[in-house]
Amino acid sequence: MKSILDKAREYEAVNGRKIPSEKRPAFHISPYVGWMNDPNGFSWYKGQYHLFYQYNPYKTQWDSMHWGHVVSKDLLHWEYLPAALAPDEEYDKIGCFSGSAAELPDGQQLLIYTSVDHETLEDGTVRDIQTQSVAVGDGTDYKKYEKNPVLTGQDVPEGGSKVDFRDPKIWKGKDGLFYCVVGNRPSDGSGQILLYSSEDGFQWKFVSILAENKNRYGKMWECPDFFKLDGKYVLLTSPQDMLAEGMEYYSGNGTLCIIGEMDPDTHTLKEENHQSVDYGIDFYAMQTVEAPDGRRIMIGWMQNWDTLSHRCEESKWFAQMSLPRELSVKNGRLYQKPVRELDAIRKNKTEYRNVVVKDKPVMLKGVQGRTIDMELAISPEDKETGYGKFIVCFAQNEKFHTELSFCPEDSVLKLDRKLSGSRRAVVHEKSCLVNRKTDELKLRMILDRYSVEVFVNDGEQVMSMVIFTEQEADGISFQANGKVKMDITKYDLV
Ligand code: FRU
Repeated sequence: MKSILDKAREYEAVNGRKIPSEKRPAFHISPYVGWMNDPNGFSWYKGQYHLFYQYNPYKTQWDSMHWGHVVSKDLLHWEYLPAALAPDEEYDKIGCFSGSAAELPDGQQLLIYTSVDHETLEDGTVRDIQTQSVAVGDGTDYKKYEKNPVLTGQDVPEGGSKVDFRDPKIWKGKDGLFYCVVGNRPSDGSGQILLYSSEDGFQWKFVSILAENKNRYGKMWECPDFFKLDGKYVLLTSPQDMLAEGMEYYSGNGTLCIIGEMDPDTHTLKEENHQSVDYGIDFYAMQTVEAPDGRRIMIGWMQNWDTLSHRCEESKWFAQMSLPRELSVKNGRLYQKPVRELDAIRKNKTEYRNVVVKDKPVMLKGVQGRTIDMELAISPEDKETGYGKFIVCFAQNEKFHTELSFCPEDSVLKLDRKLSGSRRAVVHEKSCLVNRKTDELKLRMILDRYSVEVFVNDGEQVMSMVIFTEQEADGISFQANGKVKMDITKYDLV
């Protein structure tokens, strides 16, 4: 009989190749076929980057989680490998949920993931049970450990949920031990991050509650990641059920970065600063890898759970990953930059200096396209009079456009896709309060066929958003209330 994994591999092999590459993002990862959510197992193994993803090959909807698999040498050109995991064991029959990867001393790759099963309670109600399991492989084929699961509800501190216990992120410590952080729901109903250690990757011990939400940022904390960067400790997590707070956090599923110090005695994070990771509409469940050259690279699911109906109905794939981003910590804040590998595919440079943008929309020769890298530096033409608003429209034709606008008076940057061609009544705009120190605002916009990512002031803030506007809409125009002086450098990404 064909196994569940073989069935998925056969299905994707037949149906994945039917999707023409021009109908996918050019350099962002999309699922081979069907549905994709969180990035999993982001790792460097045997000379290339591996990325796995939450995957349902059969439909463009979430169901029966498998792990899809892609590899790349440069983080931009990805090759599809056969699905790596399928929900084929008693303990993971409801799904192989999110997890991560590490290399074992014998050179094999270890995957650790959340195995989801059902449990029937005395009163007959059925609920999920989440445990952590491992699989070992060679970079293509993985075998689940016979003693799975390796972490269960018994390893959760008192009051912790067995239903919400998921998304292990593993790393090898300097002391030679493996560590992992796992999201959990304590008795207050919000979230906490549990820290475990292991000598071999198979037998795990509870170490501490690394961080507690205490109902401050959303409820359950999903997909934690934890690492040291630029002398600070960084916790990334994706809270569910956020309550809006100014322009820092919006309601729904959000992203959170907590920066601080580590208390070596209690193994807890001493929090210093907190912020959103991405201020756009579509970004969640980010995960990082340490590259061989020491860079900390992050990738996220470029999608929003609350806006799944905003999609291209004809596509046989759904959802994308963000661009991989290099992280750094400066002045207590997380900075993100597109990976420098992107520079190698920047072609056809077009440059203008000191363009004066006024109330009539202006288009510039050579500045258009849907797969581009565009850097703008804008400032008031006259410092005394200033300006009211600056607007750049892109993915534009007579019918459609998407807008990025900036009001210097309140320092608000807004992305707006209301007129991008969507027929769904979901959130289509987000604003971000820009931390501005000077009159100048620097924007770097990366457009792929179905997305835009805006890096603000050298990556101090980022806004990501998907758009499904027809590709013929490739115009770009600039406009301002008052007079804005603009420098622009634009490349095609090929
Ligand atoms: C986050 C998440 C994870 C879980 C996975 C299931 O988007 O809910 O917590 O492991 O998706 O697909």
